[in-house]
This record gives sequence, C-alpha cells and structure tokens, in this order.
Amino acid sequence: MAAPADATPETSLPHIVPAPVELTPRPGTTFTLDADTAVHTHPGSPEALEVGEYLAGILRPSTGYPLPVAQGESDRGVVLSLSGADPVVGAEGYRLDVTEDAVTIRATTAAGLFAGVQTFRQLLPAAIEAADEQPGPWTAPGVTVLDHPRYPHRGAMLDVARHFFPPAEVKRFIDLIAGYKINHLHLHLTDDQGWRLEIKSRPELTARGSLTQVGGGEGGFYTQEEYRDLVAHAASRHITVIPEIDLPGHTNAALVAYPELNADGVAKEPYTGIEVGFSSVAIGSDATYEFIDDVLGELAALTPGPYLHIGGDEALKTPEDEYVAFIRRLLPIVAKHGKTALGWHEYLKAEPAPDVLAQWWGTDPKAPELVAAAERGNKVVLSPGNRSYLDMKYDEHFALGLKWAGYVEVRDAYDWDPGAYVEGLPADAVLGVEAPLWTETVERREHIDRLVFPRLPAIAELGWSPRTTHDWESFRGRLAAQAPRWKVQGVDFHPSPQIAWDEV
Ligand code: ACM
Repeated sequence: MAAPADATPETSLPHIVPAPVELTPRPGTTFTLDADTAVHTHPGSPEALEVGEYLAGILRPSTGYPLPVAQGESDRGVVLSLSGADPVVGAEGYRLDVTEDAVTIRATTAAGLFAGVQTFRQLLPAAIEAADEQPGPWTAPGVTVLDHPRYPHRGAMLDVARHFFPPAEVKRFIDLIAGYKINHLHLHLTDDQGWRLEIKSRPELTARGSLTQVGGGEGGFYTQEEYRDLVAHAASRHITVIPEIDLPGHTNAALVAYPELNADGVAKEPYTGIEVGFSSVAIGSDATYEFIDDVLGELAALTPGPYLHIGGDEALKTPEDEYVAFIRRLLPIVAKHGKTALGWHEYLKAEPAPDVLAQWWGTDPKAPELVAAAERGNKVVLSPGNRSYLDMKYDEHFALGLKWAGYVEVRDAYDWDPGAYVEGLPADAVLGVEAPLWTETVERREHIDRLVFPRLPAIAELGWSPRTTHDWESFRGRLAAQAPRWKVQGVDFHPSPQIAWDEV
C-alpha cells in the first residue's frame, strides 16, 4: 500500500486484503454508521441498487440499524456512485473516500462498486460480520483508496465431484471468496467418482452416475434449477461461474451411466477411490461426440458466462495422437454452442486456436509447451500445483489434503509472481490466477475452511494487487487481521505458524 513517506507507519494503516493500489489515511477523520445512516445508490442503475442491498444485507444484522437503500445522490451516509471515478479504475476498480460525513464509492461499473464495498467491510470492526446484533460502535478510519486489479481473471475452484457439496455450501463458499475480490468460480462438476449436474437429454448421468463419491458416500447432484440458482447467486457477487466437464479422462461416472461411451460397450462399475488417469470415453466413436454435444449444449444454455472448461487433464490411458484428435473434434462443439473453451494445459498438445484459454497446473517453471502456446496467442490462467493448489497439505503435520505437489505453506502460496513465474512466458499472456480446491480428502465445511483459509487470500492478492505492494511482512500482518473476521463468520481457518495471529 502506498502512503506518503512521512505519514503514519505501515503497521497502523488499515489491514486490507488484497492490498489496494493506493491507500491514503485521512488522519483524525473517522466515519461512524448509526441508526440514521442510509445507502444511496446511483440513480437509474438497478445493478448499483443491488450492490447497495448486498451491503445493507451485511451491515443490518450486526448493527441492528435499518440502513434503508434507495437510488439517489447524497453527500451523507453511504454513497455508491457510477459517476466521477478516475478512469484509471477501469472496469473493476473503484475509488473509496471515507470522510466524517460519508463513505463514497465511485466506480465505472457495479463490479467496481462491489469491490469497493469489500474494502469498506474490512475497514469496519470485525463484529460487523456477525449474524446477530452486536454493540458497536461501527467506526471506520478516514481514508482515500484508489484501487483496481492487476489481472482480469481471479479464480477459485471447488471440486464437487470427489465429494459433493450441496448448494447452500457452495453459496457460502461464493460469499467468502467474494470478500477477497475473486471474480471467477470454477466448478469441477464431473469426475470418475461422480457426475454432479442434471442433463435432461442424458438422465442416466445423474440417475446412475451421481450416487457415489470418494469413500463411498451417497454423492448427489444439482438439478438444472439449482445450478441456475448457483450461477445467479455468484453473479450477484460479481463472480462468473466456469463449469467444467472433464474429458476425455476423469470420466468413470459417465462410463457407468452410458455403456456406449466405453470402447467395449460395457458399462463401468462406480469408483470411490482416489487414483487418477484410468478412465476414458471411446475416442473413435460417434456416440461419444453426440454425447458431448448434448451435454455441452445444455450446459452452455444454462451458463451465461463465456467459458466452458473441458478438462483435458491426465488422460493417461489415451495415446497422444488419439488425445489430439479428440481435442480437435471437441473444440468445435464448444464453439458451436457459443462458448470459449478453457482446458487444463495438457490440451495445448492439440495446438488449439489462439482464442481458447489454458489453465496451467504444472509445478516446474520451465514449461516450454506453455510458452509456445502463448506465442501462438493462447492466454493462460496460472494454477501452479506447488503454489496455488489449496488441497496440498500445509506441512507434514497437517492431517487433511494431499502432497504430490509438495507442502504449500502460506508463504509458498504468497511468494511468487504470476507475471514472471513461468520461464519465458510473456507477461501479457497471463490472464490471471486460480486457486483450485480438489476434494479427495475434503468431506465437510470445516475441511474446506481449513484448506482455503488462509491460502486463498494469498492467491487473491496475487491476482488483484500490483506487484509494487508485494511484501511478505505486510501481507502476514494484514492476513492476521482477517482472523477476527473469520471467527465471527464461523470460518474454521488453519492457524498457520507463519502468521502472528495474536498481534492484531
Ligand atoms: C489436475 O490437477 N489434474 C488438473
């Protein structure tokens, strides 16, 4: 965070994650919410009104104040305005001014207002996050913040295939990641252990393919209505859902449901273990592509966002020439349904057209095939396994998680530069970052919480904050200040020994 050299020392600046581009204290100034505070949103903008309602929805339970929300201009109370923002804030940034009389957020879009609201939340006492009335007072320090993201793509992934999580759990996940300015939610909807989305033209996928999960539990799936509702909930948090149908491997659940997808025409048995790389749809059969067309057609119609993720990882049973042929037949189906394909980086072997995106999950910064794809024009989302994989154990003592990519302590998650990580990858090929949570070992909410927090905020900061703010000591202090909020929110975070949790 930038502050004039002679100003208050860094340690007394507000603790915001991700670090804003510029934060300037207004010494001696504070703003206090009270029973008369109202929220004024940009006249004529239903989107700004929705952000105002969202903010009031957070503030009302803990303060007990009515916090009416209405369209209109004001120089008092909380003001969400779509005019007067410095153009430098772009499509997702904002300016926030906290003065004695008003909290004013100016942006060019509702997404920018929403980001500014997340910063304002973190200026208020942690108890503001409570679900029931607390004593207050509700005072925020006077500041001016000018802020905008480094990357347009800041993602988190939830694997609902290895263990199924019901819609309410996914909504809670969405609400938590939104607090750190994450703007994409990748849902890993299908894998060997379960198929989690209703496809009306292929009813056996859920009738037969959703009944299991890792360890043999009962699994589950989202009806199309539930999926639409999740997508709408995410959109109300300015998060775009990226659904993934993993192909041609990671498909045992589909192979259980539809015998004709198997090369030998015989349905597979359900799988509840955690091995990978053993399944494949029949690459040479027209039935496979008819199936994919049905599935992706319905999925595209249900998904307003621009992307369909087609997986493509760990097709270890598929010879490379067949794999390449498969991807080349698959991509036109995605395009036919009006979507842009995103795939794990293995699919770059097919040298896809420059308009599709790759998600890199490697661990070795020497990745010549990724650099070659970038040179052909493909943009890249970075998810290095040994940095951003939220399912890796923090250390050897940590009970949950896997360790194939190594241990990922908080500092490992934080201390790398997406713009200079993969050797020779042009900085402008990087669209952003994503932190995936694979759920082989993740059975319950507490498991999600312990793996996601506090590492997700590290990845979120890499995606949002300018490199000039990158500083481990600053980050660990600001991260520690999140803990009281997580406690109030009921987030069962992992108290990593790298963070001085008690010093805030
Ligand atoms: C992956 O971790 N198989 C993408």
